[in-house]
Amino acid sequence: MGDLLSDKVVIVTGAGRGLGRGEALELARQGAAVVLNEYDAATGQAVVEEIIAGGGQAMLVPGDVSEVAVGDRLVETAVSQFGQLDALVNNAGILRDRTLANMTPEEWDAVIAVHLRGHYTTTHAACRYWKASQRPGHIVHTASTSGILGNFGQANYGAAKAGIAAFSTIVAQEMMKYGVTSNAIAPAARTAMTESAYGEIAQGEGEFDFWHPDNVAPFVAFLCSDAAAHISGKVFGVQGDTVEIYRPFTSVAVIENGGRRWDPSQFTERVGELFEVSGIVPQAEYMMTKLRYTMSNRG
Ligand SMILES: NC(=O)c1ccc[n+]([C@@H]2O[C@H](COP(=O)([O-])OP(=O)(O)OC[C@H]3O[C@@H](n4cnc5c(N)ncnc54)[C@H](O)[C@@H]3O)[C@@H](O)[C@H]2O)c1
Repeated sequence: MGDLLSDKVVIVTGAGRGLGRGEALELARQGAAVVLNEYDAATGQAVVEEIIAGGGQAMLVPGDVSEVAVGDRLVETAVSQFGQLDALVNNAGILRDRTLANMTPEEWDAVIAVHLRGHYTTTHAACRYWKASQRPGHIVHTASTSGILGNFGQANYGAAKAGIAAFSTIVAQEMMKYGVTSNAIAPAARTAMTESAYGEIAQGEGEFDFWHPDNVAPFVAFLCSDAAAHISGKVFGVQGDTVEIYRPFTSVAVIENGGRRWDPSQFTERVGELFEVSGIVPQAEYMMTKLRYTMSNRG
């Protein structure tokens, strides 16, 4: 048990299993009362009972987090049952992987709804509460390397996750004056969602289980605490025993046309300067190589 979050009240979405479960348990271990949301009410309730059995405080708000009523109910429950809201962890998510040419509108909409709208509903309700009550707060959103680096077969998921990183940055800007921080994590761990990617990596006996989902929770607990009140608008990679920080999109080369509007034909000659100066290649790149390298070397 720690005391990083004693007397704090935190919401976690999608907390029935995987990363969300680990986050809810760690937040409770650090002293927070936790309001859990979960689509699958039985798994959510099991985590609530686990927290209470361990001497903590928890409550479930079941339902689909993409519904505005669920976001509102989460904040209302935190305030009515535990007196306040101090932090929000947006974690719930799903995959519907398929290459874009074969992706159905239903696969696109489902992923955008759970991730992007599911981040909006809770964050909207929490920010309204913090603004009205003039209280500080902390938000942790869940992005992904798929959104930051791109990943084959995940146009829907990557678009949602890149949107979440941008959403987090804008929430950070808008809520700064109320003392509310907003950061995003890009986690990596072995869960039901990633079983096919990480499931085959065996853990050596007695070794640190690098891909265990609970490894992500300590940094999330830190970002939910007042110890991280000076950190906002950032994106962190979190996996195993590593925490990385991503540099935001930034301009790295420029071409100008002497104060005149460009003619499109000029770019045939001039666009190469952007690539030469920046070192960026013009072709589509597969940016997940680094993560795959980390995976193969961590075992
Ligand atoms: N595991 C990884 O390596 C990884 C990598 C990058 C990002 N993420 C992100 O981390 C988050 C957690 O993923 P995970 O790996 O623990 O997956 P998971 O499938 O184990 O857990 C996701 C949880 O969210 C719940 N959920 C799904 N839709 C919901 C909805 N509409 N409303 C409420 N709850 C809902 C599920 O029932 C489940 O309990 C997701 O946002 C995911 O995209 C995970």
